[in-house]
Amino acid sequence: MTTLEIKDLHVSVDNQSDGDEIAILNGVNLTVSSGETHAVMGPNGSGKSTLSYAIAGHPKYRVTSGSITLDGQNVLDMSVDERARAGLFLAMQYPVEVPGVSMSNFLRSAATAVRGEAPKLRLWVKEVKAAMGQLQIDQAFGERSVNEGFSGGEKKRHEILQLGLLKPKIAILDETDSGLDVDALRVVSEGVNRYAESGWDDGTGQPVPGGILLITHYTRILRYIHPQFVHVFIGGRIIESGGPELADELEENGYVRFSQPAGTGV
Ligand SMILES: Nc1ncnc2c1ncn2[C@@H]1O[C@H](COP(=O)(O)OP(=O)(O)O)[C@@H](O)[C@H]1O
Ligand SMILES: [Mg+2]
Repeated sequence: MTTLEIKDLHVSVDNQSDGDEIAILNGVNLTVSSGETHAVMGPNGSGKSTLSYAIAGHPKYRVTSGSITLDGQNVLDMSVDERARAGLFLAMQYPVEVPGVSMSNFLRSAATAVRGEAPKLRLWVKEVKAAMGQLQIDQAFGERSVNEGFSGGEKKRHEILQLGLLKPKIAILDETDSGLDVDALRVVSEGVNRYAESGWDDGTGQPVPGGILLITHYTRILRYIHPQFVHVFIGGRIIESGGPELADELEENGYVRFSQPAGTGV
């Protein structure tokens, strides 16, 4: 059992043009534990990716106040790779291309770093093959450079392939649904649901279910993935939290009710 706790998080980013800092997150409070799926839903530009980068440790995003802890450990003190080894995983909205590094080398290196030892080659080959099969990824992708020339949907499938192989404690999935056709959305969602169920191994032999922070601005992925908690994210913070019924309301009415200041009568 593991808990990611975000308290009153404020994050700024450098504004390249005038050197000033712009505040993007304005006091985010959120707790995600094993076995929970939280959907964070908000319009474009509300700061959802900034939240995911701040958790993962992207150097451009500066935490000006607040805290992030994983089972009480200060995440903000950790480097990016320490965060990954501690059990945090980010599926990026725009996965990065890494020319010259094959997908299979990349996956094995990542698994070695996270697991603390190189997986045994024969078992590893089987494991990757099975995981690729479940996500309907052609084996030939193993020899291609990471994400290079992949379609949007192929990149997203590979993010979920990493999720399945790296088995983090908490996974942040930033718009993993965007750019997917219906079939890919189903395959990717099934991968996420497998992770939610079988999560990671804490050494007892009993799988600990995954904890998921699912960032999205569409409700359509929620036909396949069923969060217990839904949070409306606007203006760099969570302004309302509830259960799945909140997503139904967003599907129906969009963000209008949340975007207008109370009492304006519009
Ligand atoms: N590196 C950056 N430099 C300047 N502005 C940024 C940077 N990253 C994010 N922003 C700004 O912060 C706001 C929130 O962005 P983002 O977190 O990507 O929102 P979302 O993921 O909800 O669409 C946007 O107005 C965006 O332009
Ligand atoms: Mg985003």
